[in-house]
Amino acid sequence: MSLLMHTLHVELGERGYPIYIGRDLLDEDGPLARHLTGSQFVIVTNETIAPLYLDRLRSALGERDLVTEIILADGEQHKTLTTLNEIFDRVMADRHNRSTTFIALGGGVIGDITGFAAACYQRGVKFIQVPTTLLAQVDSSVGGKTAVNHPQGKNMIGAFYQPQAVLIDINTLHSLPPREFAAGLAEVLKYGLIRDESFYHWLQERMPKLLAREEAALAEAIERSCACKAEVVAADEREGGLRAILNLGHTFGHAIETAQGYGAWLHGEAVAAGMLMAMELSARRGWIAAEEVQTFRALLQSVGLPVVPPADMTSAQFLDLMGRDKKVIDGNLRLVLLRAVGEAVVVDDATGEELAELLAFFLKGA
Ligand code: NAD
Ligand code: GLY
Repeated sequence: MSLLMHTLHVELGERGYPIYIGRDLLDEDGPLARHLTGSQFVIVTNETIAPLYLDRLRSALGERDLVTEIILADGEQHKTLTTLNEIFDRVMADRHNRSTTFIALGGGVIGDITGFAAACYQRGVKFIQVPTTLLAQVDSSVGGKTAVNHPQGKNMIGAFYQPQAVLIDINTLHSLPPREFAAGLAEVLKYGLIRDESFYHWLQERMPKLLAREEAALAEAIERSCACKAEVVAADEREGGLRAILNLGHTFGHAIETAQGYGAWLHGEAVAAGMLMAMELSARRGWIAAEEVQTFRALLQSVGLPVVPPADMTSAQFLDLMGRDKKVIDGNLRLVLLRAVGEAVVVDDATGEELAELLAFFLKGA
């Protein structure tokens, strides 16, 4: 029996949609049925998730004229144009028309690539997000950023394209490996740091319960994270301003992911180290206390997240990769920093000297 615990709404007018959070929502009596229009569906998942959840999702769809199941290879290294084309080959071969609905069953990789495929197929078909990692449940499934990677840069080819609904079944988190769960917690912590100090303190207190995957704590952490994301996206869907704060730690983090080769460091791990770097820079500017940085470092360590960048990275490599970030405008690097815990700002005035000192500090194993 499904149990719907929270329903949030991303307020984007005619592109708005619900986020359902609960237990066993993949079951036939869950809210998915409300969004199953038409008789053609494409389920995109991967070889790890398919044996766990594909049958349940397939049953929830019931009898339909055409259901294509696409099971991709697992991994960030497959979030490419080649894989995207694999999806199009299958969908074309099965003759899906414009009334088809794509359903992404998986983590952020599946969600991002399926969303982009839906945005492109016949100039746009409906899609539904069924995120199965903590990271996807609190971040990537909400807000309509879809993309694939390019060898020269992460998420460089994509579109803003909103889903019809997001269905978060927290029970899917029980099968998630601990390292992936920890990576998701990095994005949860991000919301507290950028916008909600009380949530940050709540997370500090509840971390043991969250690490034990206790249902009530998880449901609340996911709901508060999604509420924060939905609010920011509703205010600035296409990242003209405010939405950039969701990228706390990402400029450093994307440099790490690109340098290491996609998949070596998990996205959430790279973001964790990147957030600590952004906090350190904020402390050096006198905006937050040095103790806040130490507290956050200890919190990351308690979760099992990295607090230093990879030992083989150089300052020059960081600066080169950060210079290619999507937030660079007219040659100016834009960084998300903290004016205070719970209050993020985007700055474009970081000096070369400031960055060189920060990178030197971290690259010697701060
Ligand atoms: P992922 O999609 O690679 O999933 C992580 C691993 O967990 C994979 O091996 C996957 O097969 C496995 N898995 C998924 N669900 C499982 C389950 N319930 N049980 C067992 N195993 C499971 O990684 P992710 O962390 O979910 O997402 C990272 C991606 O999301 C990156 O590509 C990142 O760029 C993207 N992202 C996008 C946005 C956005 O706004 N669109 C935001 C953040 C991150
Ligand atoms: N994950 C950043 C964003 O959705 O804008």
